[in-house]
Amino acid sequence: MEAAGTDSDGREFKSPQEMWRDQTGDDNKKTLWYREGVAYWEGVEASVDGVLGGFGQVNDADIKGSEAFLNTLLHERLGDAGRNQHLVALDCGSGIGRITKNLLIRYFNEVSSFSSF
Ligand SMILES: C[S@@+](CC[C@H](N)C(=O)[O-])C[C@H]1O[C@@H](n2cnc3c(N)ncnc32)[C@H](O)[C@@H]1O
Repeated sequence: MEAAGTDSDGREFKSPQEMWRDQTGDDNKKTLWYREGVAYWEGVEASVDGVLGGFGQVNDADIKGSEAFLNTLLHERLGDAGRNQHLVALDCGSGIGRITKNLLIRYFNEVSSFSSF
């Protein structure tokens, strides 16, 4: 994907690859990147409001948007939108399980989730 953008400090990057090279280019930077990520999530309340960065009120709209996206994928990729298949999902970075509980469990026969909190 070739899309330019800025990081949270306002620094400009020509592509996501350039940003990732800059942020995690060597083992020390990579370790720091993950340590800061874990430290951030350790300080966040385990709630809908917490995982949505204080914007818990967008939960319903977020689930509806994700559901529309998921339906597009299921119709495009699976015959009969997967209705007669045993569907399995992995919810990576699931937090408190908001997406599993409100969306994935309604579409998939099995859902596994994992998260650093
Ligand atoms: C923005 S929250 C989203 C949680 C959930 N997907 C949702 O939408 O409600 C990101 C979650 O990813 C988890 N996370 C971040 N880095 C992770 C890692 N390297 N391995 C596992 N979980 C991670 C955090 O603990 C946090 O709960």
